[in-house]
Amino acid sequence: MNLRVLPDYEALSAAAADAVAAKLREKPEATFLIPTGTTPLGMYRRLVAMHRDGLSFLQAAFFNLDEYLGLDPEHPASYHVYMRENFYGLIDADPTRVHVPDGAAADPDAECERYEAMIRKCGGVDLCVLGIGRNGHIGFNEPGASFDSRTRVVRLAETTRLVNASDFAGDRAPEKAITVGMRTIFESREVLMLASGANKARTVEAAVEGGITDRVPASMLKQHENTTFLVDRDAATTV
Ligand code: F6R
Repeated sequence: MNLRVLPDYEALSAAAADAVAAKLREKPEATFLIPTGTTPLGMYRRLVAMHRDGLSFLQAAFFNLDEYLGLDPEHPASYHVYMRENFYGLIDADPTRVHVPDGAAADPDAECERYEAMIRKCGGVDLCVLGIGRNGHIGFNEPGASFDSRTRVVRLAETTRLVNASDFAGDRAPEKAITVGMRTIFESREVLMLASGANKARTVEAAVEGGITDRVPASMLKQHENTTFLVDRDAATTV
């Protein structure tokens, strides 16, 4: 695992966008597994600007890491809407190669199998970009997630439901989600984990310096041979 500390959020976002653009130039038909949330917004903004300057995403395949269970793709808090508004709708991505789990699928388990099969059909993941939850989750693989897990329905940690509550009318995010599993993330040929801000510092410390444990799912990335933690200075105060 490599640790790269950047001076601030802008530098972190630029480094992440550069990594995605470099992969695209090397392999235009590359497969990406990518997150939502606050952290990657700067990266998406930069990639959209690169697109305006000529970078094409047309041949690439994109998979999102997760989606809330029970949310229609048109729900304003759905990750479908987030991705359309912040990335997919602003670049020349091929709609047939853009994938977000369907949280409203009639048979969620079948949807998970379909999603996993689609990733395989696209040749596996070339570059996986991750955020990190305050409890160390990656995707929605919460503490305790099995290293062998695949795309599946999970129950969200109470802390996650509280942290993400602001997107919803009630006082909590939904109870469950579909997430790509730990094993699937691990099979990515390259992993980039992004962390920004002082409220991630303890989590980054646990993931980087603590033992490899399913209590901190991000710590398991230390066993992956091509993983970089891209962290801004505020999130790296204790490492
Ligand atoms: C979202 C996802 C989550 C987030 C994590 C950090 O698709 O996979 O693991 O990356 O919860 O979220 P932010 O960036 O909002 O702090």
